[in-house]
Amino acid sequence: MDTGSPFFGLLLCVAVCSVTFAKECGMSVYYRFDCYPEAGSNQGNCEARGCCWDDSKEYGDVGIPYCFYPTDYEMYQISGPVDTDFGCTANLTRSQPSYYPDTIKDLKLDIYYETKTRLHFKIYDATQKRYEVPIDTPKVTHKASETDYSVLFPSYGFGFGVTRKSTDLPIFNTSVNNGGFLFNDQFIQISTILASNYIYGLGEHRGSLLRSPNWSRFTFGIPTILLILMPLSTVPIRFTLDWSRPTATPTVCFSLTVMLWAIIQPAPAITFRTIGGILDFYIFLGPTPSDVIQQYLEVIGQPFLPPYWGLGFHLCRWGYKSANRTQEIVNRMRAARIPQDTQWNDIDYMQSHEDFTTDSKSFSNLPDVVADLHNHKQHYISMIDPAISSSQPAGSYAPYDDGVKADVFVKDANGKILVGKVWPGNTAFPDFFKPETSGWWNTQLKGFHSQVQFDGVWLDMNEPSNFVDGSFEGCPGNSTLDNPPYLPSLTHGTLYGKTLCPSSQQAISSHYNLHNMFGISEVMVTNKVISQLRGKRPFIISRSTFPSSGVYGGHWLGDNYSKWPDMHYSITGILNFNMFGIPLVGADICGFNDNTNEELCVRWHQLGAFYPFSRNHNSLTCGPKLCIDQDPGAWSSASQDIIRDALTTRYLLLPYLYTLFAEAHINGSTVARPLFFEFPHDPYTYAVDRQFLWGSSLLISPVLDPGAQTIKVTLPAGTWYDFYNGSAISISTTANVTLDAPMEKINLHMREGGILPLQQPNTTTYVSRQGGFELRAAICSKTGTAEGSLYWDDGDTIGTYENGEYIFLKFSLASNTFVSKVVHNKYKDAGDMVLSKVTLYGVAKDPKSVTVNGKAAHYSYVSEVGTLKVSGLYTPMNDTITVKWNA
Ligand code: NOJ
Repeated sequence: MDTGSPFFGLLLCVAVCSVTFAKECGMSVYYRFDCYPEAGSNQGNCEARGCCWDDSKEYGDVGIPYCFYPTDYEMYQISGPVDTDFGCTANLTRSQPSYYPDTIKDLKLDIYYETKTRLHFKIYDATQKRYEVPIDTPKVTHKASETDYSVLFPSYGFGFGVTRKSTDLPIFNTSVNNGGFLFNDQFIQISTILASNYIYGLGEHRGSLLRSPNWSRFTFGIPTILLILMPLSTVPIRFTLDWSRPTATPTVCFSLTVMLWAIIQPAPAITFRTIGGILDFYIFLGPTPSDVIQQYLEVIGQPFLPPYWGLGFHLCRWGYKSANRTQEIVNRMRAARIPQDTQWNDIDYMQSHEDFTTDSKSFSNLPDVVADLHNHKQHYISMIDPAISSSQPAGSYAPYDDGVKADVFVKDANGKILVGKVWPGNTAFPDFFKPETSGWWNTQLKGFHSQVQFDGVWLDMNEPSNFVDGSFEGCPGNSTLDNPPYLPSLTHGTLYGKTLCPSSQQAISSHYNLHNMFGISEVMVTNKVISQLRGKRPFIISRSTFPSSGVYGGHWLGDNYSKWPDMHYSITGILNFNMFGIPLVGADICGFNDNTNEELCVRWHQLGAFYPFSRNHNSLTCGPKLCIDQDPGAWSSASQDIIRDALTTRYLLLPYLYTLFAEAHINGSTVARPLFFEFPHDPYTYAVDRQFLWGSSLLISPVLDPGAQTIKVTLPAGTWYDFYNGSAISISTTANVTLDAPMEKINLHMREGGILPLQQPNTTTYVSRQGGFELRAAICSKTGTAEGSLYWDDGDTIGTYENGEYIFLKFSLASNTFVSKVVHNKYKDAGDMVLSKVTLYGVAKDPKSVTVNGKAAHYSYVSEVGTLKVSGLYTPMNDTITVKWNA
């Protein structure tokens, strides 16, 4: 960090003196904030904006803006702040319009001291109500009595800073006086210095987990969190940062539903730009990364608890082409005894790609396939697209006719139903924000369910995707909603490229404002409808997400490629979505676009067995031909063996995975997490994105390169036990370790001190759930202790946690004694849960005897690895269990 920055100067001056500014273009390039973000800047139009121009490429062409704000740039002046019940408020005013149209000259800044660790601020038009995101967030009217943060205001211009009281270090500071805070009707911009350049989050992307601060630009459909690791302590005066004790602080941005752009620069600093709404930010103080996610989820909602079967293995492809072929694929999974809980169909099951229909020839017997799955206690998921075919003769396609009657479709700017084009041809788009739409959607899903008894729903194309730009008639050329004064470079060039016209009308606002919430609005309505329809927990996977989506459903990472880097970057996606509060997330195993190959597909199954949502999905065509099959049964028997092993290991671990999902639902914790979440004091973990953890106790280290027989892994200091046999690696400082990784193995390690609940696996979760449990402990090498827990219920009833209909067990190990204690038990079938095995890794000596609940037990001991196995048990788990051994 450049400690000579104007930022630190300003903060210090705020405290001790008043500041004078001179027009200044000579700041460090790191502090140049872009004054001409759109294309076509030149010295003339830059200087016309009152900005500085320097196009010398002295520092290389790395994205440093040529046109940037001088330090005395015209900006808002702050009056106040004054104290309020909720924190403080201030007025912001500027005398001159800015260089974008419709400057809002009078603004209000409200800062809410919501909790000890949560600060919330809003900047909005002081005189006129503007659009705000319709997401339920806590309404706080009284400030917290104690806070971990302080808020500072400068003596000049607009800005405020938030610092962590314990260190006085800045977390957020908008007083970057050359950052060009602008608030126009369709252009809002705010910059802040960041606490460090360990930056994570910022929407869905394929790339490394750690974001580059080097002028990286982001466009996201979903406004989402920015998580920054920051130092916990400093040595004053020189601001030497103590990186051995960092912590994390994310900010969450909600206000920006149309589009959100961000640029990170090496100061480090970030600039957010949007074209509507208000500015609405939260800052969470943590102090640990897990704490900040929990604090974030207290605002946006904790994730839903998926049905247990939803954590099994899912198989899908576009292009089975018939129900018979779908059945053949299921049959070959069964014949190969490869675990599978759920079979899916893509749009090819539909008649002419129309929702709520089945192809009358090739999928007429789909109900038989679904019945067969149900007879085998497996499940079925159908794809539903939001776009409804609109060109059938009147009276021939009820979903459209009924929708017109109920008036559920998005209207164009003139009030006519907007017609676009998706798979079935001409289509209309439901407005899921309209109350009428849920009744209509309910009727359609119910009608379809009476033919095809689907167990869950796959919501695709809900950005919403459109094959024509805007609509069949284009978009009104003169609308500033369709053609706002500012746009960054976009994939499709315009705001309406391959989606709806922003000027189209929805019940509660324009599509311009609601665009990014189309997906979540569909997921919310579908969740309600299918919960009522099936009377069981909903299972929904959606392509589009928004903060709060995790409360209603999961996500898959969209159309990846059958390429090794895509497999690697899927880990970033999984970890990001866990931070975003959508832990039920996975990527298409083996890759979607292009043909996969056997080695890649086998390795990808090994990794995908550890995606929280584990699904193999394939595209229809690869080039001119149908893509090759990539379901597990398509490969050699040696490969099938490896895939079976990986998925069987997942099924063995499902009680642990389910407990993590329950904890996420109850406490807002993550299921899959980056190493730095568990080792926030260890800088060597900050960039690790080729490995990840399930909870705190299981480290997953997949092979991500072709031909590899070994892998280099990062192991934080401590003892790590091989999950399969208990052999230990003990290291005193974090190190890169090379491990054997033959084709048949995915490396899994238990972290010392953890106890994992496991269950005898089978090929479906239904059968697995009847198996005996195993408790596997990794004894802490220093203390001889370990702990863990199990959440268990019937896996399908809605609201089991809320209604108390579950059992919760706590496991602890100390002084050669392992105890399982019942903490809560109102699960009606708890009496059927039996413990069949206890495995202890890290037992130094062959025990003389082992007892379970005071009675001698059968055990074996492997001295080379220090593993003690107590097996042959049949001990009820709804009461305390004590296992003791004498050293
Ligand atoms: C796009 C989805 O991302 C993909 O998974 C699906 O196969 C196709 N649509 C066809 O429905």
